[in-house]
Amino acid sequence: MVESIQNISDDAAGGSIESWIRGAFEKAFPGHDFGAVRVLPATDAKFGDFQCNDALKFKRELGVGNPREIAQKVLAAGGTPDFAEKLEIAGPGFINITVSGAWIAAQLAALAGDAHLGIPQVGAGRRVVIDYSSPNAAKQMHIGHIRSTVIGNAIDRIFRALGYDVIADNHLGDWGTQFGILIKGYRECLSAEERANCTVADLEKAYVASAARAKEDEAWKGACREELVRLQRGDAENRALWERFVQISIAEFERMYAKLGVRFDTYRGESYYNDMMPEALARMQAAGLTEESEGALIVRFEKEGLPIAIVRKSDGGFNYTTSDIACVASRVKDYDPERIIYVTDDRQQLHFRQFFIICERLGYSVKLVHVPFGLMSFAGKAISTREGNLIKLDDLLEEAVRRSLEIVRGRAAASGGEAPSPEAAPATPDQLKLAEQIGFGAVKYADLSHDPATAVDFSWDKALALEGNSGPYLQYAYARVCSLLDKAAAAGASPAAEFDVATVAEKRLALQLLQFGATVRRAAECYKPSVLADYLFQTAQLYSSFYQNSPVLKSEPAVRDARLKLCSLFGQVLAKGLSLLGIETPTRI
Ligand code: ARG
Repeated sequence: MVESIQNISDDAAGGSIESWIRGAFEKAFPGHDFGAVRVLPATDAKFGDFQCNDALKFKRELGVGNPREIAQKVLAAGGTPDFAEKLEIAGPGFINITVSGAWIAAQLAALAGDAHLGIPQVGAGRRVVIDYSSPNAAKQMHIGHIRSTVIGNAIDRIFRALGYDVIADNHLGDWGTQFGILIKGYRECLSAEERANCTVADLEKAYVASAARAKEDEAWKGACREELVRLQRGDAENRALWERFVQISIAEFERMYAKLGVRFDTYRGESYYNDMMPEALARMQAAGLTEESEGALIVRFEKEGLPIAIVRKSDGGFNYTTSDIACVASRVKDYDPERIIYVTDDRQQLHFRQFFIICERLGYSVKLVHVPFGLMSFAGKAISTREGNLIKLDDLLEEAVRRSLEIVRGRAAASGGEAPSPEAAPATPDQLKLAEQIGFGAVKYADLSHDPATAVDFSWDKALALEGNSGPYLQYAYARVCSLLDKAAAAGASPAAEFDVATVAEKRLALQLLQFGATVRRAAECYKPSVLADYLFQTAQLYSSFYQNSPVLKSEPAVRDARLKLCSLFGQVLAKGLSLLGIETPTRI
């Protein structure tokens, strides 16, 4: 569900250029609405720095046969704006804009002086709830949970950076029939010792054993159902067990979140909305949304062409749909957010479409957004219990650190440090810390660099590649800038007070840096951290071609210091951008 991406360039470097050209259109052709006029970064340097192709779009409306004529009139009306070095009409009527070095330098200074590094504070005074990660209790997190956690957290960070008041809510799956099976399994399939020091792994084992028994043994199945009924009725003993299971689960999830730098404002799981479900149903009934069918209450979506949704089962129980509707009511009451964003895998799309429609029919004005993501496969194989590659998240993260440690130690050895063999000597705390930063960053970036809507194939080689579009590549680019600035400082050089954009490579990099704020905004508007990841990768590539073409430390002092200033801003933008993806930026690798 991508909302319209309007006026993106308002806050980009092209913003003032866009308002100038819009003004010129209005002067040349009074009485028309030119709100749709856009200025975009030029697709090719030979077209200048920015381009506006809208003369063609308005040909019909303005009744001018040749769009070049429109462009000519627009430029004549616009006069000579301060940013322009050259204004040109090309092809059928494209307006190509080349900006001056002085203008770019002034824009860069404004960016560097901005506490938000050019990220527009469009979210000030606006609240959003982001519902993400949301694993099911009593199960270990596995590789399948990484996407909701990592994508959701990046969206969370991006919205906060835009000034939004974000409530990160973990909608744990902590209620349902599985707890009857689990309580029975806990009592009878675990040893006293396992019960005493119960971990999530033990809970999972108890559940699996009990569910298997229930399949073959009717009496066992009945006993599970009884445990569930007792829990639902508020039986003290079962209630206490359930609470303990949820606590154990959250503690384990938080261990993973700490590694991933993820934190939630609230953990309101499904159970939190239990008592609110009858009221949610009553509201649906009062609004005439439900009808009876085979003893159940259902909602139809004929107009929308969707299958029916059950909102009360024939046994009187509620389900996931009712729970999510009660949840919206509760969030609206407690937080009054302007939107609620849900990050789940794309198999839940129907559920979200249905319950969003119900909320609309109930008259909720809060904007509801589902960000569905594709499944992750591992080295070309689907991830499933059957494939035997249902890797636990904990194991995945541990392996990330182990593999990164090899890289870190390999580099240390190459530069004359200690031996690379992991057996030879234990890693130092610094190496271990660095390996975590690289390893976790690599895992996150491998996910975030893909459009959430697409499936991702994870491979260690791609994730940890030091060349190419990877987390380590970007972290390494950052560390290199830091070491360049350190070297300069050691030689008594420091970034100039003012920017000076002289060469083509400098200009390319500068214009790219000026797009940072607009890019962050666009990533939020389409709920795709990948937009930011792509931008950072391109920026690092532009930096690297600038750096190859333009000596810094060996240049004469004035040039050197101006270049250092640009390098330093690149470092700031890269570090800020990576932090919005939840990726740390060590200064030395
Ligand atoms: N617990 C669910 C799952 O593991 C995700 C919950 C998403 N949030 C929601 N409000 N339905 O698939």
